[in-house]
Amino acid sequence: MADMMWAGRFTKQIDERVNDFNSSIKFDSRMYRSDIEGSIAHATMLGECGIIDKGESEKIVEGLKGILADIESGRLEFDPAAEDIHMFNESELTKRLGATGKRLHTARSRNDQVALDIRLHLRDDVAEIKAMTAELIDTIVKLAEKNTETVMPGYTHMQRAQPITFAHHLLAYAQMLLRDMGRLNDAAERMNVNPLGSCALAGTTYPIDRFRTTELLGFAEPMGNSLDGVSDRDFCIELASAISILMMHLSRFSEEIILWCSWEFKFIELDDAYATGSSIMPQKKNPDVTELIRGKTGRVYGDLNTLLTMMKGIPLAYNKDMQEDKEAIFDAVDTVKLCLRTFIPMLATMKVLPENMRAAAAKGFINATDCADYLVKKGMPFRDAYKATGTLVHICIEKGLTLETLPIEEYKAVCDTFDSDVYDAISLDTCVMQRGSFGGPAPEAVKVQIEGIKEKLNVLR
Ligand code: ARG
Repeated sequence: MADMMWAGRFTKQIDERVNDFNSSIKFDSRMYRSDIEGSIAHATMLGECGIIDKGESEKIVEGLKGILADIESGRLEFDPAAEDIHMFNESELTKRLGATGKRLHTARSRNDQVALDIRLHLRDDVAEIKAMTAELIDTIVKLAEKNTETVMPGYTHMQRAQPITFAHHLLAYAQMLLRDMGRLNDAAERMNVNPLGSCALAGTTYPIDRFRTTELLGFAEPMGNSLDGVSDRDFCIELASAISILMMHLSRFSEEIILWCSWEFKFIELDDAYATGSSIMPQKKNPDVTELIRGKTGRVYGDLNTLLTMMKGIPLAYNKDMQEDKEAIFDAVDTVKLCLRTFIPMLATMKVLPENMRAAAAKGFINATDCADYLVKKGMPFRDAYKATGTLVHICIEKGLTLETLPIEEYKAVCDTFDSDVYDAISLDTCVMQRGSFGGPAPEAVKVQIEGIKEKLNVLR
């Protein structure tokens, strides 16, 4: 095995098992680009500040660009025996530039380097997750626009409660996803600070310019405390929690889609390209995508828990425990992207079955509140109206009727305030049309909601 970069004070080679255990190259090599970008900014600043020779700084920058190009073209492969991506890139630079390459790590530690790299890397990931979330909101809005008049039952306790429209139901998810975008923006904002120059933990005696690397790397400001700079992983935890909430929303939505495509509901039909068959039951068409999303949500919660637990006992400043941050946060990021990538086209292609939604809404006395409200509008106190309607529902159940089919005489027998205009007042369409309060299911209110969502989305994008 080649000498480790830190070999000087050691009299033995590292045990191979320790080297394998210690190495993070398997999972941090994905940060190669961020590592090189960070090193380019660092070398540029070192040259500008006269800490290393300007000519050498330029050579380092060129050398780093060459390494980047070679990695991207596949000419340079990661050495699985390297300790991490930082060591790999630096030793490759030294292989190429000799002594000049060895000057790059002046006034820097891997502690501030890794803190920087993760931030740079996740900054791009957040932008991608945000774009995908925005695309999902667009997809939901498009589907909602086609279904503002599609009456369906709204549920509480999984019991039919009051009539709503499919658009109204879908848009509840758009609202959740808007909040997710807000949380992703917040996480991105607090992530966008520069730890570089914190060095190992205590800054440096070299006259570095942290504001210059901050500017070169597009951060808002340098982190104000070098100990915090190297040991803060709040940004990973914040992102993992924003992703966890987003996954929770996708999982709830998935759960509903699973119910909706069952024979018991049949509110929607998944496109054949987004469903799977059974190896034994020829009739089956299974919603595997949504089930996997529901399942993977637990895995992302696990990632969040890993990060929180990993950090809770770590004294300042850097400790190797923190190397565990990457697998957890990268897994959360990969998983949510994977889920969104599949969920969006699945939703866009699913077939809505309005007749079945309407048929379900027509059963189950979903208009009972409206029947009570009819009496209230004629002057009766709500509690009395509620009781009279309850009695009517009881009669309907006994006689196998619905409120729509119960004869007017039966109504009048319970309460003589009823007139034949009650049938119009409790028709499904009236029930939905009348619910025009802000945020409600009436088509006009839903159109207002859609405009609001579009405006908010434009601000958040
Ligand atoms: N691979 C390490 C990590 O991911 C980089 C930092 C190593 N720092 C150290 N002092 N050993 O955390």
